[in-house]
Amino acid sequence: MAVVVPRALLALLLLSVSGLVAAQRDCYGAVVEVTVLSDDDSTPLDAFYGYPGPFGMALNDTATEQYPVAVADPVNACGKVAQAPTPGAAAVVARGNCSFADKAWALQRAGYGAMLLFNNEEECVLMSANRTEAQGLTLAVASLTQETGALLQQLLAEHAAGGSA
Ligand SMILES: *[C@@H]1O[C@H](CO)[C@@H](O)[C@H](O)[C@H]1NC(C)=O
Ligand SMILES: *[C@@H]1O[C@H](CO)[C@@H](O)[C@H](O)[C@H]1NC(C)=O
Ligand SMILES: *[C@@H]1O[C@H](CO)[C@@H](O)[C@H](O)[C@H]1NC(C)=O
Repeated sequence: MAVVVPRALLALLLLSVSGLVAAQRDCYGAVVEVTVLSDDDSTPLDAFYGYPGPFGMALNDTATEQYPVAVADPVNACGKVAQAPTPGAAAVVARGNCSFADKAWALQRAGYGAMLLFNNEEECVLMSANRTEAQGLTLAVASLTQETGALLQQLLAEHAAGGSA
C-alpha cells in the first residue's frame, strides 16, 4: 500500500523594511515578509507582505525560524480550535466572528506558534487588541490580504494533494 506523505509548506516570517514600498498601496507602517517554502528542499514558492500585530512575539529581520503551515480548524479560529498538526505550526486563519485576540488565544492553546490572519474583505487589515486581552500571547502574528489568504490555501491544497510517495 502506498503511503501518503503530505508534503508540507513552511513559512518564514521576517519583519521587513525593504517591503515597505511594496506594501504601501494597501496599508502603512512596518510589514512582515512571509516567505512560503516547500519542506522538500526549502525552495521558496512565494512571498507575501503582511502586517505585524500589536501583540505576540516581536518579529525582526534576522529570524530564521520556519513554521509548518496549516489551515486552522475551524478556519475562523473562534471557539475551540483543533490541536495543531505540528506543535508550533503557523495557522492560516480567516478574519471575522470573534476578536483578533480571541483567535490568537484559541490558536496558542491549540499549540500553534504563529497566526497568519487573512482579511475577509479587500484591502489590508491592521489588528488591534487591548493590553489585558493581549497579555500572555506569545505566538507570532501577521495579517494578510484576502487574496493572499486564498493563495496560501490553494498552495496548501496543492501540496497536500501532490504528496503521495
Ligand atoms: C529575532 O527573532 C529570533 C526568533 O524569533 C530571535 O531568536 C532573535 O534573538 C531575534 N533577534 C533580535 C536581534 O531581536
Ligand atoms: C461568521 O458567521 C457567519 C454566520 O454564522 C458565517 O456565515 C460566516 O461564514 C462566519 N465567518 C467566518 C469567517 O467564519
Ligand atoms: C479588553 O478586552 C476585553 C475583551 O474584549 C474586555 O472584556 C475588557 O473590558 C477590555 N479592557 C479594556 C481596558 O478595554
